Amino acid sequence: MLSKIILWGALTLAMGALLFGVWVRAWPDVEMGRRLTENNCGVCHDLTATQKNRKGPFLWGVVNRPAGVVDFAYSAAFLSIAHVKPFVWDEAHLERFITDPGAFIPMTRMAQRDAGHPLAFEGIESAANRRDVIAYLSTLK
Ligand code: HEC
Repeated sequence: MLSKIILWGALTLAMGALLFGVWVRAWPDVEMGRRLTENNCGVCHDLTATQKNRKGPFLWGVVNRPAGVVDFAYSAAFLSIAHVKPFVWDEAHLERFITDPGAFIPMTRMAQRDAGHPLAFEGIESAANRRDVIAYLSTLK
């Protein structure tokens, strides 16, 4: 009898822990997003309200901002999409771009590596990390 109670108790605890883990990962983690964004994007993008352009355009207020509207020297590849078929950086477009920038905008400078631009960004593999990055980007306003 006692061993049954212990067994059920242990099972209930295990289920609880599992559900708690699922619950935690179901919500974006903005603090994790801040760290991921600073490490993955901060090298090329200004994330602050000072709105300075660096290797890339500043990302302050980027969520729901139309693509290609900053006073920044975008590549022809980028403008051939952003100015020909205008769109807004909503979550779905950001998700596509940071999954694989070159797949969304072929030849975008963000994914190019060359002498004048030795760094390239190839995308964030983890869907949970992308979601956290986008959650953090939406706080930059
Ligand atoms: C290696 C440098 C580099 C890294 C790292 C980088 N970017 Fe970029 N990003 C650029 C460049 C350069 C452009 C301009 C693209 C062009 O002109 O082709 C750009 C453009 C953008 C744009 C378009 C903005 C607009 O005004 O329309 C967004 C959004 C963006 N980057 C988000 C990100 C995010 C989010 C990350 C991190 C997950 C990131 N970038 C990492 C260099 C980088």
